[in-house]
Amino acid sequence: MAVLPQRYTVTAALPYANGPVHIGHLAGVYLPADIYVRYLRAAGRDVKFICGSDEHGVPITIRAQKEGITPQQVVDKYHTLIRDSFRDFNVSFDVYSRTSSATHAAVSSDFFLKLYRDGKFIEQTTQQYFDEQAQQFLADRYIVGTCPNCGNENAYGDQCERCGTSLSPTELINPRSMLSGAQPVLRDTKHWFLPLNEYEPWLREWIIEGHKNDWKTNVYGQCKSWIDQGLHPRAVTRDLNWGVPVPLPGAEGKVLYVWFDAPIGYISATKEAFPDEWETYWKDAGSKLVHFIGKDNIVFHCIIFPAMLKAHGGYILPDNVPANEFLNLEGDKISTSRNWAVWLHEYLQDFPGQADVLRYVLCANAPETKDNDFTWKDFQARNNNELVATLGNFVNRAVVLTHKFFEGQVPAAGEFLEIDQDALRQLAAFPAKIGELIENYRFRDALAEVMNLARLGNKYLADTQPWHLIKTDVARTGTVLHVALQIAAALVPVLGPFLPESAEKLGAMLGLEAGPWATAGRPNALVAGHQLREPALLFAKIEDATVEAQVQKLLDTKQANLLANSLVAEAKPEVSFDDFQKMDLRVGTVVAAEKVAKTKKLLKLIVDVGLEQRTIVSGIAEHFTPEELIGQQVQVLLNLLPRELKGIQSQGMLLMAENADGSLALMQPGKPVRNGSGIN
Ligand code: 2FM
Ligand code: ZN
Repeated sequence: MAVLPQRYTVTAALPYANGPVHIGHLAGVYLPADIYVRYLRAAGRDVKFICGSDEHGVPITIRAQKEGITPQQVVDKYHTLIRDSFRDFNVSFDVYSRTSSATHAAVSSDFFLKLYRDGKFIEQTTQQYFDEQAQQFLADRYIVGTCPNCGNENAYGDQCERCGTSLSPTELINPRSMLSGAQPVLRDTKHWFLPLNEYEPWLREWIIEGHKNDWKTNVYGQCKSWIDQGLHPRAVTRDLNWGVPVPLPGAEGKVLYVWFDAPIGYISATKEAFPDEWETYWKDAGSKLVHFIGKDNIVFHCIIFPAMLKAHGGYILPDNVPANEFLNLEGDKISTSRNWAVWLHEYLQDFPGQADVLRYVLCANAPETKDNDFTWKDFQARNNNELVATLGNFVNRAVVLTHKFFEGQVPAAGEFLEIDQDALRQLAAFPAKIGELIENYRFRDALAEVMNLARLGNKYLADTQPWHLIKTDVARTGTVLHVALQIAAALVPVLGPFLPESAEKLGAMLGLEAGPWATAGRPNALVAGHQLREPALLFAKIEDATVEAQVQKLLDTKQANLLANSLVAEAKPEVSFDDFQKMDLRVGTVVAAEKVAKTKKLLKLIVDVGLEQRTIVSGIAEHFTPEELIGQQVQVLLNLLPRELKGIQSQGMLLMAENADGSLALMQPGKPVRNGSGIN
């Protein structure tokens, strides 16, 4: 038998504190990590679950600039929001810290200094764009210019988002600074580099030889391809005024690169929360380090951070890095900037008390081996068909029937028939199977087995039919419900890592503590005579209208994005003031409106323009009903030459604003004004 680690150090990627967290984060990183940790705890292992906010780097400063606030305000706002979302989804960190903490500044500076003093860095002077107006060097994301590949005039210094090409700032045509708009100039700047190339032989042996069989293929493949392409020195410092200052004389205005300080954040968070024990979790060979991350973080956790740890010496290395692929939303990539996401805090506003439903759907559909898609239809189907109809239904039947026939007391078992023995045998095998899948990071399969346990319960009830049996054989019915209740009892511990709230609710209903994993699935978890509590539904059906509202919310987002990105029409040639004054623009009130017969687009309006009532024919019938126009104040061009439309004289024109999608809005005064008032 494999020797168990003495303890586990489990980390989950530190999310950038530059926006709320969404379903992609939960599905890819935090949920699998939490399931793993909850299982380890139930299995009696010694584990620390570490996370915190990543509060440095350019994403934070860009967000601050966009929102017109300071970087500190950005991280304070999002750190709180993210921390609370994790708490509300029962992600059970032992510590949720932040990289702006004093401990982190000290730990990361010391880490840098040790490498510096041990001669692990190379110093290099390179040329970098500098904004002379803003008097600062520019991070790649702060430079925009024309993409040499596709001509997009707003390509970033590191990537063109239109054609997807990776760029370096010097490749941009007509570069300009996002800070001042000025054309940046190249200036010399000194930085410290970790010569990754020197670690290549060691990385080959450690990863390519050593982890061929135990790391996931997507993780292993990405690492191998990186190493095979050849590793190069990586700068570990940046010219930026937001981050951990480089702790060397003469390095003013320089900070540690965010990808240097962030992973050290795992160590500083452990130290901060467990000042007396932290070293055991990071330095003792008996500790197993596991990093849960998304696939975009693989190289940092598998190559760069391990090289840093190796260069420093004294630290353990990750035993595994079970990175997931990405989760898409309704067929489209999740995007914070496009607001294409289901935000965790918003989900809980719309589905209060239903954190477990989302945990279930995201785990059942987790992007473990390939990108997956979240759809609201699937969310509804999984809730209604699996949680309600399979799991909830089984538990409910077992508990309700026990109340109905045996006053809620676990009946004594008589002699077990083959069907009972078979059910109990199968039951006993589940916890070990589920545990093994979890230990191998196969959370989807593990959850499927939990559901199979509920299915075993449903099948057992369907085969034994206690609701009929009671009419002829009370004792046999008692045995059947006794067995069914043991299955329900076994669900409490195995459900715990996946759906902690539901497991607790079920445990309360059965009057049962989850207990250690090792005892899960035993045939006598509930002894005869034990009193059950009142039955309560674990899950509720989700109606069509509920998910349709969520889909509509996304459609609204799409529409808003379309509008935001559509081009504004070019300016028209100038006109003189005299020309403008020739137009008689007035405020009027629509007093009557009707559709023009045999047309789709035309409305006949009677508008009170102060002087008189005018008839105006307007092509807006597809945008407004007559009823919504009556009583509205509008802008009218009075002296447009009258013309005849479908036999009606139109004596003026209504003014409208036209959206990019062709929808129309009335131009109305900000407050009611007298009809006939001029517009100047
Ligand atoms: O991708 C991200 O969201 C990063 N903030 C992850 C950092 S993980 C660790 F290194 F801190
Ligand atoms: Zn391009």
